[in-house]
Amino acid sequence: MTYNNLLSEIKDQVLHLTINRESKLNALNKETLAELADAISFAASNENVRGVLLTGAGEKAFVAGADISEFSSFNAEQGEQLALQGQANVFDAIENCPKPVIAAINGFALGGGLELAMACHIRIAVSGAKLGLPEVSLGLIPGYGGTQRLTQLVGKGHAFEIIATADMITAERAAEIGLVNHVVAREELQAKALELLSKIITRAPLAVANAIVAVNAATDPQLNGYEVEIRAFGNCFNTEDFKEGVTAFMEKRKPVFKGK
Ligand code: COA
Repeated sequence: MTYNNLLSEIKDQVLHLTINRESKLNALNKETLAELADAISFAASNENVRGVLLTGAGEKAFVAGADISEFSSFNAEQGEQLALQGQANVFDAIENCPKPVIAAINGFALGGGLELAMACHIRIAVSGAKLGLPEVSLGLIPGYGGTQRLTQLVGKGHAFEIIATADMITAERAAEIGLVNHVVAREELQAKALELLSKIITRAPLAVANAIVAVNAATDPQLNGYEVEIRAFGNCFNTEDFKEGVTAFMEKRKPVFKGK
């Protein structure tokens, strides 16, 4: 896959995606969002991909937000469409991807950049990264799910403070409040993300996919998460991987999962 704003490479069953607009601090313009949507849809359906590592090019920014220059003259209807399409095609698609997606936050994660990281299943940040939702300083609020996902991750009090002050917080503070899972030195960022992904990849892929569905249901107001879990649990019994997992346990050997 060749993109204009995204580097993409499959290595050891992991799709490495790097947002590559370094001169604009990897800000998400329309084309980058379309490319991300395409790459995530590819990851979701391609058998050779078992996980995704998402990061930003360079050392300064993961993503410094949506590209402000593109929506500076929008009216209410256009603003709503921007949020609606972005959420469906990119942010919700990442959250619902049946393969684990890890955000490796290599620098500023602001606005749409933090929203992108929050749509991922796991976040790892370098020490020194700054995270925030500065939209109210532009006369806006977050529109790519940020008000919802931040509240789910850190609770209403911290979420409101971060959104309403527009302040950036450090990676260390983000870890304290549960916004990122791990903070590491810059040189360890990729290794830490790959350590987690390679462990998840050894587990039963359909079980991992069912776990994503069930965990996501916990924060979906349209769903009863317990009911979703019951169905997802039941689904696992229909898989070859369940039989392999149990047989391998009985035979005291490592399972070989096929994702079937
Ligand atoms: N949209 C469009 N362009 C952006 C951008 C964004 N969200 N964030 C950064 N850029 C561009 C800058 O316009 C600049 O481009 P230029 O060199 O053509 O002028 C380039 O990226 C470098 O950014 P700059 O502001 O010069 O870097 P800095 O080190 O002085 O500041 C930030 C870094 C992250 C503090 C600053 O870029 C910033 O506040 N960005 C916007 C963050 C934001 O509000 N995001 C939410 C959007 S809804």
